This record gives sequence, structure tokens and C-alpha cells, in this order.
Amino acid sequence: MHAPDGLASNTPPATTLFERLGPAPFARLAAELYRGIDRDARIRSMFPEDLGPESEAVRDMREFLTQFFGGPAEYSMRKGHPRLRARHMRFPIDQSARDAWLENALAALAMVVREHALDELARREIETYLVRTSQFMMNR
Ligand code: HEM
Repeated sequence: MHAPDGLASNTPPATTLFERLGPAPFARLAAELYRGIDRDARIRSMFPEDLGPESEAVRDMREFLTQFFGGPAEYSMRKGHPRLRARHMRFPIDQSARDAWLENALAALAMVVREHALDELARREIETYLVRTSQFMMNR
């Protein structure tokens, strides 16, 4: 039996990663991911010219990640339902493009873990998401 709302329970309230970590790690992850992609000849040509910290690409990614991990739904307020797989369909994402993207994402995550002192639980939750979702984004 679970306790009615407001009564003592042994189960702690569910918290999101955003509540635990705040906005900075997600902003850093987005900027660092695109900093890596900007220098990655394997996939660079799929992306827009400007991948700098103030670019639309970084903003989209930052707002998306923030929203996904439990922060304000800025991405959807601005752009509607993410429909991530559909939005990626016009790009030819095969195994090697996916692997290159994921390499950049995991390198960005490693930097975030160091600089924002993320604990292992947080690191693993984000890593699992990046591995699975990048796999799901393959369309060729
Ligand atoms: C965890 C996996 C991924 C997430 C969360 C993600 C997220 C996003 C988001 C939020 C956008 C902006 C969409 C929009 O609003 O128009 C985007 C764009 C894009 N993504 Fe991904 N993506 C992922 C995996 C990948 C992979 C594996 C590739 C392969 C190269 C890729 C290539 C691209 C490209 C080319 C764009 C268009 C960039 C632009 O025009 O700004 N993504 N992605």
C-alpha cells in the first residue's frame, strides 16, 4: 500500500536530474557536444555552419536536454513536440555517423562530469540516454 499524498512514506519523492543538478551541466553538455562536432570531419557537413556557443544548434540542444531531464519546457514552447526521430530523418544517420556523434557526446559528458562534479548515478543516467537515443536516431 502506498501512503496518500502528504502522509509519511518510506519512498522519497521522485526528483529529476534537472532538480538535482540545475541548468549548468545541460548547457555545458550542449555547447561541448557541438564544439566537438565542429571539428569532426566525419559528420561536420550534416550540421549548420555556425555551431558556436550562441548558435541556434546549441540553443536547440540545450533547451531540449533541459526539458528532457525535467527542466522548463522551453524547447517545446518554442518549437512544439520534439519528434526527435522525425526531425532527424532528412539526415543520413548510419552506424558510423551515429558512432561519431556518440563519441562526441560521451567526450562532452566526460568533461561535464569533471567540471560539474556529477556523481556516478547522474553520469550513468545521462550516458544511458545518449547511447540509447543515438541508436534510435539511426535511419539508414
Ligand atoms: C541522444 C541522441 C540525440 C539527441 C538528443 C539529439 C537532439 C537533437 C536536437 C534537439 C536537434 C534540433 C532539432 C530541431 O529542433 O530542429 C538535433 C538536430 C540534429 N541532429 Fe541530433 N540528436 C541526437 C542524435 C543525433 C545523431 C546520432 C546524429 C547523427 C549525426 C544527429 C544529427 C543531427 C543533425 C544533423 C541535426 C540538425 C542540426 C541543425 O540543423 O541544427 N543527432 N538533434
